[in-house]
Amino acid sequence: MILKWPGGKKWLYKEVQDLIPPKINNYIEPFLGGGSFFFALHNQNDLLAPNISKGYLSDTNEKLIGFYQALKRNPLKVYRDSMELINNHTEEQYYENRKAFNGEIPERVKEKHSAHQFIYLNRTCFNGVYRENNSGSFNVPVGRRKKIAFPNKEYFKECAKNLKDFELTNCDFSETLKKAKKGDFIYLDPPYVDRPYESKTYKTFRKYNAKEFSIEDLERMVEISNKLKSKCSILISNFSVDLVKDYFKKKDGWHFRETEKTTFISGKAKGRTKVKEAIIYNKL
Ligand SMILES: C[S@@+](CC[C@H](N)C(=O)[O-])C[C@H]1O[C@@H](n2cnc3c(N)ncnc32)[C@H](O)[C@@H]1O
Repeated sequence: MILKWPGGKKWLYKEVQDLIPPKINNYIEPFLGGGSFFFALHNQNDLLAPNISKGYLSDTNEKLIGFYQALKRNPLKVYRDSMELINNHTEEQYYENRKAFNGEIPERVKEKHSAHQFIYLNRTCFNGVYRENNSGSFNVPVGRRKKIAFPNKEYFKECAKNLKDFELTNCDFSETLKKAKKGDFIYLDPPYVDRPYESKTYKTFRKYNAKEFSIEDLERMVEISNKLKSKCSILISNFSVDLVKDYFKKKDGWHFRETEKTTFISGKAKGRTKVKEAIIYNKL
């Protein structure tokens, strides 16, 4: 993984290999996040990777897309600059760089939203979450881990190579989906809906950006998916809850798989617990 990102789907890759079409025109992923699924597709299976060679990747998180664009352009520079910060990491340095990243230090304005600070903050912040306040400033406190996991130079280069023929755009998912054509393969991984656990419903983290993903956004996604399902192969992930099952009905041509994952949830039911994940897809 190049980034730590809430909702990462590295695990999904193994469960959906049979759902990846043998021939793909463009691969489209408009909720790219940490790209765990995208990079797993490339890094773990030499047979499938040539299929997924070009297409469109996007996310509403402007800084995240800026990071991928810089990584694609010059992976060694991003690696060198971020490694320097990682090697000198202290709590004081973290907060100083968080300020510079947010554009709060006038004499360091060039560093505003820089890619090397993005990955440095991502790897050293608390729990590897990306959260912004309402004015769009990254506001996660420093993490407490003594040992910082950081990918090596070769992995930076490999990720840049994987991104080579993909257009990276900072936009709402609906804009990217306008580009979908016959024969494309689309993976949709929106922020999770809330999740029932025992007799309660737990609010799920959805505030990846100043604007939180809402039920209305999910409904827009369902509507667009229904329009595209006769010409594109679509794969969708979310929690396996009634709300999601109601949106993707068998009678409308959607298929459903359920898989159980162990995850960490906060709130009253603290600790590791099992969740049911839904894998939704169409068949052309
Ligand atoms: C669950 S994460 C994706 C994780 C990713 N599949 C992975 O494996 O790392 C959801 C992503 O959707 C993005 N997002 C939220 N609202 C969006 C919108 N309206 N359009 C596009 N992306 C959005 C968030 O910034 C976040 O990165």
